[in-house]
Amino acid sequence: MTSIESLSRLVEPNRVHRRLYVDPAIFDLEIDRIFGRAWIYVGHESQLSNAGDYVTAVVGRQPIIVARHLDGSIQALYNRCAHRGASLVASSSGNVRFFRCCYHGWTFRTDGELLSIPLRRGYDGTPADTRNPAFSMRKVARVESYRGFLFVNLAAEGPDLRTFLGGIATSLDDMVDRAPARRIAIIGRPFRILQRSNWKLFFENLNDAMHALSTHESSVDAARLALSRLNDRGSPATTYASGGIAAIEKNGISYSTWDKTTTTVFERGHSFMGGFSNPASYEHSYVDALAARCGVDEMRRTLSVNRHNSIIYPSCALRAAYQQLRVIRPLAVDRTLIEIHNFQLLGAGASSDRLAMSFSNLVNAPSSIVMADDIEAFNRVQEGLETEGSDWISLDRNYGRDRTESDHITGVATSELPMRNQMRAWLEYVTGGD
Ligand code: FES
Ligand SMILES: [Fe+2]
Repeated sequence: MTSIESLSRLVEPNRVHRRLYVDPAIFDLEIDRIFGRAWIYVGHESQLSNAGDYVTAVVGRQPIIVARHLDGSIQALYNRCAHRGASLVASSSGNVRFFRCCYHGWTFRTDGELLSIPLRRGYDGTPADTRNPAFSMRKVARVESYRGFLFVNLAAEGPDLRTFLGGIATSLDDMVDRAPARRIAIIGRPFRILQRSNWKLFFENLNDAMHALSTHESSVDAARLALSRLNDRGSPATTYASGGIAAIEKNGISYSTWDKTTTTVFERGHSFMGGFSNPASYEHSYVDALAARCGVDEMRRTLSVNRHNSIIYPSCALRAAYQQLRVIRPLAVDRTLIEIHNFQLLGAGASSDRLAMSFSNLVNAPSSIVMADDIEAFNRVQEGLETEGSDWISLDRNYGRDRTESDHITGVATSELPMRNQMRAWLEYVTGGD
């Protein structure tokens, strides 16, 4: 049922079969061949400032720990005790001198090496020994950082992180370059949303300009009403709220305006859509701080980069202008966890961070009226695909009109180009490409 030939019949250039969204066997295959081969986002270096700092993540179905070791190196380890298998760490982050198993008290260094065994003489004459690497925690095959963003790869073979990112690395650059100190730091813990739909639906929505006017009609109406009633302009509360509310209202721009925006796609399913931030709207204090650190020309170049969602397929998406990164974790064929992380631009002052938090709170948090719109649409798609109404999903919009450039393809934002591009990458992964 999942031979290369049968999989190839499920994905055509401009339509895909519904089995990709509802068949648990296909989901198992994705975990193995996509999440077992691609570089997967696991955290940010700002979470690992000190020796012993760690974060946990689930990569495909593998629970892992990413830790800062005493020598400063970043270590990615399977979260599994080398004795009889208990998971070593239960929290999502923390700081330790060593990992200590809750079951029989074995301890491990933050590079995974076995440190101690209680009543060790019980193992005299056996292979169990701190010097035996078979009794270390197993390391994940590869861990790499790109400008502070940490990714792991469960496979030892395949392209390095920089090659994997290709042209979409410029979106990570965009986020970091906006910080006058050229460094960013994660703020607190993420928002989390459990979605009752397939993980691919989330990615397909991120660069989908055609859904905004219909799906978000009611939240756009609410934003327009709220903006018209905001009196007391200039007060901190109004400034805080209006940033996020204005972003909600932008979903109401006309089809013809969306149609003038472009989308750019790269190999391996990555893409970004042109954005709607207004460079003239940045606060003077922030613009001055940026110019003071990198010069006026570089400041202008940095703030002229205008992208909405950038997709790093298949694990995350970011919005540099709003200092936000969303992580997509597939849990089952119809269950997906979204984690929404917010970042601080070091050296930028508090105002840009407030705008970012306002945007996240109002546009993407679990209580957001915008996310509720999208989640309702995802639920309905999942429901529809589970029926026998039809086997096929159309990706025809602007098919045949995409423009191929050197290392990327561009189209209008109303095109279904990003979805076709994701499906092409999907097929390459599951049928054996890297
Ligand atoms: S399972 Fe960890 S010490 Fe026994
Ligand atoms: Fe949406």
